[in-house]
Amino acid sequence: MIPLKPIFLWKYLKFKRNIIPKNVGRLFYLSYEDALWDILDKRNVKKGSIILVPEFFCGDVENNIRKHGYKVSYYPVSKHLKTSSRQLSIAINKYHPTVLVIFHALGITNSLFENPIWLKDLSGKTILIEDCVHKIVNPQKIKFIKKNHFIIDSLRKVIPLQGSVVYTQKNELNFTEPTIFQSWKYATVVTFWWMIMQMLWNLTHFTRKTDLSNWFSIKANQVMKIGYDLIGDSILPARGFFVFNFLQQFIDFKKIEQIKMKQIEFYEETLSNLPKNIFQKVPYKNSDKGKMIAYPLVLPLKTAYKTLEKIRKSGLLLNFELDDSHWSKKQKIIYLPCPPAGRFVKNLATTMISTTTIFSATQFFYCF
Ligand SMILES: Cc1ncc(COP(=O)(O)O)c(C=O)c1O
Repeated sequence: MIPLKPIFLWKYLKFKRNIIPKNVGRLFYLSYEDALWDILDKRNVKKGSIILVPEFFCGDVENNIRKHGYKVSYYPVSKHLKTSSRQLSIAINKYHPTVLVIFHALGITNSLFENPIWLKDLSGKTILIEDCVHKIVNPQKIKFIKKNHFIIDSLRKVIPLQGSVVYTQKNELNFTEPTIFQSWKYATVVTFWWMIMQMLWNLTHFTRKTDLSNWFSIKANQVMKIGYDLIGDSILPARGFFVFNFLQQFIDFKKIEQIKMKQIEFYEETLSNLPKNIFQKVPYKNSDKGKMIAYPLVLPLKTAYKTLEKIRKSGLLLNFELDDSHWSKKQKIIYLPCPPAGRFVKNLATTMISTTTIFSATQFFYCF
């Protein structure tokens, strides 16, 4: 069994601290949602305001948005995870959102940022949240496209750290994170479960040649779900743990990008003959390869459950991702993991697909 989430923090870090450009303001929270609640509060967003999110989003976050007193509306996302500028403009003019969320799903650059003609339909006051939870954000490469533009990541999804960084324009940043005393119990419990999860993924790795590994993997998944459910529940947001805040500043962007690029290319090569009626690929540009959280495969509803069952039986405990989203009512998606720190062992990757649809997932993986 292999860990499905990143482990071994030191592989993601370097000795030199990253420099943050002078025009960029930075804050550190316990999670994306904690950052969001704080931004909405500090920017005086009234309860009942509309937050416009993509159909491909996280149901648990949507529920937490409602619990925090705001309303959720959706704009469409195609099966290839794309929204056109026109579709977004129509949704903006229909819902008049106070907050707009644009998500770089899988870390693939959202094409809405390439030619943002939809911006003309947004007021200057509207808060734009650039959702980078699937990406490692390099502050040197940030571009702000409007006033009230906030970029938020979620470290635990991409590296072995719990926390979320917010980047915004420094000259607009007139608030700081809450004190450590605010929601400290919630923050401690979240960090505790995160640590247990890390320990279990490590044990999954160290026992990977034994039967115990399977057990650790199941437990790690269960603990991960406990943590995920808990995160974002606190009405008052929490700041991130100062040690994680410090370590985040040493992320080795270049190394991670190079390894991810190889991993995605490896998947491309290995999966070139996938049966198209069972697995549909998500398009992305070459420049996105080094940023992706995983290699995505879209499964048509008709065969999705059977396919997933086969993958899990073959030893890779994948789940449908964002399965509680609006988008997932029409199709399903799985992520083939790309741990940024990791050395691919190509010879493990013989054939993963025969002419039938049997997916022998354990054969194509990496090890550290
Ligand atoms: C697309 C998306 N945005 C935001 C979040 C929230 O991130 P966090 O759990 O750090 O609050 C999630 C959580 O899974 C997500 O999937």
